[in-house]
Amino acid sequence: MDSDRRDCHLNMLSKMAMCKSHGQDSSYFIGWQEYEKNPYHPIQNPSGIIQMGLAENQLSFDLLESWLTRNQDVIQFRENGGSMFRDLALFQDYHGLQAFKNVLVSFMGEIRRRKVKFDPEKLVLTAGSTSANETLIFCLAEPGEALLLPTPYYPGFDRDLKWRTGAEIVPIHCYSSNNFRITESALEDAYEEAQRLNLRVKGVFITNPSNPLGTTMSRDELNNLITFAMAKNIHIVSDEIYAGTVFDSPKFISIMEALIDRKHEKSKMWSQVHIVSSLSKDLGLPGFRIGMIYSNNETLIAAATKMSSFGLISSQTQYLLSKILGDKKFIKRYIKENKKGLKKRREMLVSGLENSGIECLKSNAGLFCFVDMRHLLNSNTFEAEMELWRKILLSDVGLNVSPGSSCHCSEPGWFRICFANIAEETLDLAMQRINDFVSSMNLQRRQLIAAASASSSRRRTLANWVVKLSSGEGKTYR
Ligand SMILES: Cc1ncc(COP(=O)(O)O)c(C=O)c1O
Repeated sequence: MDSDRRDCHLNMLSKMAMCKSHGQDSSYFIGWQEYEKNPYHPIQNPSGIIQMGLAENQLSFDLLESWLTRNQDVIQFRENGGSMFRDLALFQDYHGLQAFKNVLVSFMGEIRRRKVKFDPEKLVLTAGSTSANETLIFCLAEPGEALLLPTPYYPGFDRDLKWRTGAEIVPIHCYSSNNFRITESALEDAYEEAQRLNLRVKGVFITNPSNPLGTTMSRDELNNLITFAMAKNIHIVSDEIYAGTVFDSPKFISIMEALIDRKHEKSKMWSQVHIVSSLSKDLGLPGFRIGMIYSNNETLIAAATKMSSFGLISSQTQYLLSKILGDKKFIKRYIKENKKGLKKRREMLVSGLENSGIECLKSNAGLFCFVDMRHLLNSNTFEAEMELWRKILLSDVGLNVSPGSSCHCSEPGWFRICFANIAEETLDLAMQRINDFVSSMNLQRRQLIAAASASSSRRRTLANWVVKLSSGEGKTYR
């Protein structure tokens, strides 16, 4: 009996409940557990671990909080002098509140520079994009069918796309030599690999802007992708939950915008392109569990709407957000201020790391940077990456960062570092700790080199002496 089946048998639980493909033993989640055991606090635990492995956006809470202070009626469910409490408490329709869907599509359009007009009838509400992604895969793939994903990718996808659906992920390998761009040959290679593994490919799944890269996809990349998906007759899913975090050029191009601009191909791919979105990152509200699927495929929308009854957004959350998003003036200001804050934070991280001789991949979006620490590895291997990660997390530095291998990066030595979930002073301290660590590593390396060169010069002296001795010169010493 294999170990999975033995576990099920012993615990009298289902195979699904005991299945290990959830991915919680990844270093990504282990880092969080280590942080929980010893969290940094400026006064109570100043030597604790600083959490830089969490893609959370806490930079614009003051704006949301001041909106709530100004709109007390909303929190008390009061509208036009009456109470909404009963209506909200009793509301059970899994299609969601119409008013909420209306403002959501307008928000989606706003953060995509109004290049796409979204229709509330093509939207499915889900409890976060975790649920949206899983629901989509349930709709698109049978167990054992495959999705192609560019590397590096968000570690949670192993859980969200594979665990309960039984679908498989085949990596599209991307490399730092071209800033991890998705090439035509990488797409073809992944497709061939799936065929070699006897897996039927149902789609390509992209994250744009990318987690962990913090970059947006170029128009060429999106066009290649559309051409590829059309040739293979497969779906494209675009997880765009960081669309509202694009703080620098180039501008964000949604897959829908790219498709609309491909006038000849548009009709062929129209019902095969799907977007996932959420308010977890753009508004910094992961605890509210607001996610959505958007698609032009009516059959898919009908199926996903039925499935959404397993993960609905509570009606009081929908109500609150319909009011916040409905305040267009506030939302415009929020988006602008939020991007400004993110850009400033990114610059702080980049220049702090530069002081320690560490470079970041050039990025323009997201809540993190993809950081190049290849020169700090003892060897060009994933083992050396884990060794460095353990040092940074546990022994020397006390920072929880995510190793590239947890994001299935194809090259060792890259780390994702988040910058929007901690206070500015904590970020400064983190940079100081990195600086001390790199300085002490450099010192150790210099000492090792000096010791090695001293020992090789001793060996040379000895060798010279032996040569002299054997050539007769040494006889004078007898
Ligand atoms: C690319 C990506 N998709 C989905 C999620 C899950 O987000 P949510 O909180 O909306 O479920 C995350 C969270 O980090 C993410 O980075």
